[in-house]
Amino acid sequence: MGSNTLETILVAGATGATGREILRLAQTRVDTVRALTRSPDAAPGLQTAGADEVFVDDLLAPEDLSAAVADVDAVLSAVGTAPTALRSGPPFVDGAGNRTLVSAAADAGVDSFVMESAIGVGSEPASPLATAFNAFIGPIQEAKATAESAIRDARIRHTILRPGILTNGSRTDLVTAAEPGAKLWGTISRADVARLMLSAPVTPAAADRTFEVVSMPRFPSRDADIDWTMPDGQ
Ligand SMILES: NC(=O)c1ccc[n+]([C@@H]2O[C@H](COP(=O)([O-])OP(=O)(O)OC[C@H]3O[C@@H](n4cnc5c(N)ncnc54)[C@H](OP(=O)(O)O)[C@@H]3O)[C@@H](O)[C@H]2O)c1
Repeated sequence: MGSNTLETILVAGATGATGREILRLAQTRVDTVRALTRSPDAAPGLQTAGADEVFVDDLLAPEDLSAAVADVDAVLSAVGTAPTALRSGPPFVDGAGNRTLVSAAADAGVDSFVMESAIGVGSEPASPLATAFNAFIGPIQEAKATAESAIRDARIRHTILRPGILTNGSRTDLVTAAEPGAKLWGTISRADVARLMLSAPVTPAAADRTFEVVSMPRFPSRDADIDWTMPDGQ
């Protein structure tokens, strides 16, 4: 793998709204795009969306993740708990699922792990948006915090992105990515998050860092001034 290339990535949560944006972006920039889903029926749709290979497994009860992470340069995790599943209680894929995935990735020698977390996760001071997230999905936020810790402790290069409210708007590339504690609030499109997630493994300044990210409103004075670079095409 060259410094600006990704030969193989695994997208966890590939059927989800952010995951599909990652597939769309990656299909012309990454040689082999693997998608992970719990649903065998999702395979044809994932291939149409840009996946070269589909792996079926459940991160909360995995049968065998070793093949999915074998020879992978970067794992991009956009998994999340559906609001309807919140009532069923932990374990949540946001926590236990991501912890299982980073452990498998580290064991397999994967170079890089990127997690889509959320504003308000972690102990740093955060904006009132974090208070709102905590009020509605507090147990999920707590689960995400355990995954963030496991990722930082794992022997793997990582980037953790904590977006504000996700939208299905178009990609703008006009984002603020700021250090935890920057107290950002606002929205960001899943397409903009996907670009940051795909860029993180080949962006030197993103290594082993966590960012709050929003695109509306922008906070230029709080931006970490990262030159987010997409992987070179095939
Ligand atoms: N909504 C917001 O405003 C907001 C704000 C900040 C952060 N976030 C976070 O951003 C992330 C992405 O959100 P999104 O709305 O784009 O995603 P989404 O559409 O809800 O998709 C979630 C994905 O998680 C996968 N998944 C769930 N349980 C799984 C399990 N046990 N094993 C493997 N995969 C599993 C699902 O895949 P299958 O069903 O195919 O298995 C699905 O593709 C989430 O972590 C969310 O909490 C959301």
